[in-house]
Amino acid sequence: MKAIRGATTVLNDTAEDIKKGVSELLLTIKSKNAITENDIVCIMFSNTSDLRSYYPAKAAREAGFYYCPLYSSSEPEIDGSLPKCIRVMALAEIAAEPVHVYLKDAVKLRKDISGKLNIAIDGPAGSGKSTVSKILAARFGILYLDTGAMYRACALACVRKNIDCRDEKSVEKVISSVDIDVKYSDGAQKTYLDGKDVSEEIRTPSISMLASSVSAHRCVREKMVELQRTIASANSCVLDGRDIGTNVLPDAEYKFFLTAAPEIRAERRAKENAVKGIVQPFDEVLKEIITRDEQDKNREIAPLVKAYDAVEVDTGSMSAEEVAEYLAKKIQGGI
Ligand code: DC
Repeated sequence: MKAIRGATTVLNDTAEDIKKGVSELLLTIKSKNAITENDIVCIMFSNTSDLRSYYPAKAAREAGFYYCPLYSSSEPEIDGSLPKCIRVMALAEIAAEPVHVYLKDAVKLRKDISGKLNIAIDGPAGSGKSTVSKILAARFGILYLDTGAMYRACALACVRKNIDCRDEKSVEKVISSVDIDVKYSDGAQKTYLDGKDVSEEIRTPSISMLASSVSAHRCVREKMVELQRTIASANSCVLDGRDIGTNVLPDAEYKFFLTAAPEIRAERRAKENAVKGIVQPFDEVLKEIITRDEQDKNREIAPLVKAYDAVEVDTGSMSAEEVAEYLAKKIQGGI
């Protein structure tokens, strides 16, 4: 047996509006979960105390739920609670994961499971963005969009053409003629340059530095940001980058800014490199991290900066799992 949650709000405290609201809510729950009344064990409602005109349980009976036990109760008056709200929990004999349904203003109650959800995670290199983003995306069953990979693919395109990544004119020529795309295989992002999977090739320290240089150019950012917005507008996703909360998706439902001391970030990067068989002295890794921070923070277009409404988290003394847990709690608690 599974519990299906849902809620809706009504415009007026009238029998008519309550009946309409309950009917829409239950029918949506039925259709989204592909169930019939026979699958439902019981339905419980509660409503805010500003709704006095009709019992939701009675409205449900009238909406065609004749046989399952129904129950409704009134909630205590709580300051700041969503006005004219009807909440429901239906217990049903289903095997699949329940699809919870939040309608009208009740969408605000559970932004994480209702409607499209974009989570922006910005921060400097090594702050834990990508690991945390992957954990969160898996937890919420949504896509993870690694926007840095796109700039890395741009850098690789320039390397292949022997172009200086600081030379805007030459970069523009290359970027206007290449095709950069991302696809998903088993939930994992694959980055494509002119139709070829370059996901591994773009993970070298030299491409990291060149991606930072190439990403400073307007021509590059415009093309990549357009692609990022297209993906984010069609899918719920966690996006990590430098300018997601400030520039790519200023209206993202949730925004976080991860930080950590450069030494800690360099240590993490050195460990990741070692796993990939990349040997680089720690001092060099640290120097690259600091240079990249400087470049990313001080460029003219969409620099690395915390969005005013992003939640800042210092990840220095936390594991990736701990950070992900913290962010998930913030998301589920509505921040
Ligand atoms: O996250 P990363 O290390 O893969 O990013 C590589 C570079 O790409 C980074 O130094 C700056 C740039 N970048 C950016 O300018 N904007 C983004 N949204 C993501 C990355």
